[in-house]
Amino acid sequence: MQTENSIFARLTELKLIVVTGKGGVGKSTLTSVLGRLFADAGRQTFLVEVDPRENLHQLLGVPPSGGDIVEVAPRLRVQHIEPRTILDDLVREKLKVDVVASKVLASPVHKHFTEGAPGLKEAAVFGRILRLLRGHTPRGIPTPDVVILDAPATGHGVSWLAAAQLVADVISSGPIGHLAAEVAAFLKDNQQSGVVVITTGEEMPVQETLELIHSMRIRLNQAPELVIANALYPTLPPEIPAEGEDPLFDLWYSRRQINDSELERLDEGWLGPLAELPILPIEPGPALVGRLSRYLKRELETGS
Ligand SMILES: Nc1ncnc2c1ncn2[C@@H]1O[C@H](COP(=O)(O)OP(=O)(O)OP(=O)(O)O)[C@@H](O)[C@H]1O
Ligand SMILES: [Mg+2]
Repeated sequence: MQTENSIFARLTELKLIVVTGKGGVGKSTLTSVLGRLFADAGRQTFLVEVDPRENLHQLLGVPPSGGDIVEVAPRLRVQHIEPRTILDDLVREKLKVDVVASKVLASPVHKHFTEGAPGLKEAAVFGRILRLLRGHTPRGIPTPDVVILDAPATGHGVSWLAAAQLVADVISSGPIGHLAAEVAAFLKDNQQSGVVVITTGEEMPVQETLELIHSMRIRLNQAPELVIANALYPTLPPEIPAEGEDPLFDLWYSRRQINDSELERLDEGWLGPLAELPILPIEPGPALVGRLSRYLKRELETGS
């Protein structure tokens, strides 16, 4: 039974969820999973990805977005956003005369600035997301209740989350300064936006997760809404065969031992909500997303 104060209920109140974590831990998979759950719960849900490899569509079983908003299921849509394109659009919007806009866009100064300015691309992506949430969607496409951003692997630190503030600190006026300040305020507002961190039960991802939580606290005075420990091996049975008797069992045993000790370490450093998901022998695609959705729903409804 879903309780009033379950994690799921809390997550569904948010307008923006940023899914982040180390490379390859399941960010795109769980962005898709969260999308399914929210759409099923009646929320108009947009999934946004910025990774040029574009892989959400494969997980959801639809054609690649290529920049368009693609409908996946009732109330579930996906869009690939190219940060560069947004910045170019911004220039076009502000410089209404096409010839001038084309000149600016082609100029090395513009290219240099948009490529090199720290945080600019990230702030622009969040700016686009804010516009979607405010109803600036193409004709016939509903305003999303929630946007889930499949954020790129950031390595250590909080670069994606801190980017807008960084820009706002440097550029205080003009359209970009304005946008960055608005985005930074939105990301700080924990009634509207939240972070979900994905990890696996392995040493490096757990280490990065603990470091991310630490730097979120120190630099942003924030904490994730939820940490998901993904792709865990099944818990071990009471009867353990002797080592060498069954190589497959030995593999399972050693993987799960690592999972156990890393989950323990995570538990010591993270006192907030934690969901655990199994590793499933299913290829990336809608079947994997569907199965994981059922597991995650159960985890989130217990209100742990
Ligand atoms: N619980 C799971 N069970 C089985 N396979 C999984 C599970 N979670 C993720 N995978 C698989 O692991 C691989 C990596 O997942 P995914 O692409 O979602 O990670 P990512 O964090 O988005 O990676 P990247 O940092 O490269 O964007 C994919 O092949 C995916 O299908
Ligand atoms: Mg990914």
